[in-house]
Amino acid sequence: MAVEFVPLPLPASADASKFIDFGREVRGVDPGSLSPELFEQIKDALYKHDALLFRDVKLTPEQQYALTKAFDPQSENYGHGNNKTEGTKKSILHPDLKTIPRVPQVQLIGNGTVYNHEGLAEAMLKHPSHSTFHKTRVTSEDEAKGITRFYRWHIDAALYDLSPPRVTTLYGINVPKGNHQTCRYDDGTGDELDVPLGTTAFVSGKTMFDILPQDLKSLAVRSRVRYAPHPYVWMAPAHAMSTGLGIESEGLELPLNELPPWEEERRKVLPVVWKNPVTGNLHFQVHPCGAAELIVDPLPAGASRDGALYPDGAHITDLKEVRDLLYKMQRPAIAPKLVYPHDWRENDLVLFHNRGVLHSVVGAFTKEQVRAFHQCNLAASDDPAGPTKEDVEAYA
Ligand SMILES: [Fe+2]
Repeated sequence: MAVEFVPLPLPASADASKFIDFGREVRGVDPGSLSPELFEQIKDALYKHDALLFRDVKLTPEQQYALTKAFDPQSENYGHGNNKTEGTKKSILHPDLKTIPRVPQVQLIGNGTVYNHEGLAEAMLKHPSHSTFHKTRVTSEDEAKGITRFYRWHIDAALYDLSPPRVTTLYGINVPKGNHQTCRYDDGTGDELDVPLGTTAFVSGKTMFDILPQDLKSLAVRSRVRYAPHPYVWMAPAHAMSTGLGIESEGLELPLNELPPWEEERRKVLPVVWKNPVTGNLHFQVHPCGAAELIVDPLPAGASRDGALYPDGAHITDLKEVRDLLYKMQRPAIAPKLVYPHDWRENDLVLFHNRGVLHSVVGAFTKEQVRAFHQCNLAASDDPAGPTKEDVEAYA
């Protein structure tokens, strides 16, 4: 049977014209045992379509690790670092994330209590909830009616010392059934999105860049983000925006001198825009929660200064200014019509291009709703490439 790539079913909320290239269901292959030739086709498709879905998959943790590693053969450790030596960071990021003992690069995530699972006698899992992270929360009354929020829009990445993984693989083993929920933005726009229970929401970083007005495209191609050291520890006392797209500027971040030991050279400074290695497209890829500073290059020679932002370049260290600029650039792309909320079925395997999309956990489960997923991503062997000189000249 030949491999087939079929467009993903879009919800009624989606603007289909913005999802022409986004997402494919892959049929006719077993992702756990791909020949080198088939793997090359899958890899190519991942960079072209940013998210690939395989249905009715049986995949061991060993196979999932091997598949994930094939995208970056020199990568080795889980995307957030070696769990054995970096327990502090891990516990703050995912207090309920459990490592599969045989394959420590694969994590068990989900909700409720799971027994006798791949060498784990008992694992208590908790689906992250906006109620412990956002500055404001949906009332219990509304929550009972199925109102929820995006938890946190992000890229899977440690953002300190390690390079952002190229791909994340998510394998849904137990998927509780339940009613759809309404994801409310609560930012004064009235935006809301109908979502399947426990969806993973995706937006395209390419669309995020493409829909920017010219002045912000120019700023984006000229900018790099300096992330905070140990960003998840740094942001832990702070609260997120109601859209899950960054942190409220209330001065609650942990002071840099109270963080675990860190070195300036290990802080990540990454381009705002990442160049897709297969298509050459530009993807706006910023993890807004961890961003601390923006470094803006001056306009290239010959570019028009008319209406240009920071034409002579800038080093923006004011946290509120950094966040306001990023929010202005990223918020349009999480509009309801631009979100793909995946409707999980048991034995779905989703591969997503972690350097081409942002994603968020959504929704709330009760304790009784047991969900078990295997997740794997690996700190990459290199940092993502930014725009080329030609790209900067074209957009600046
Ligand atoms: Fe994630």
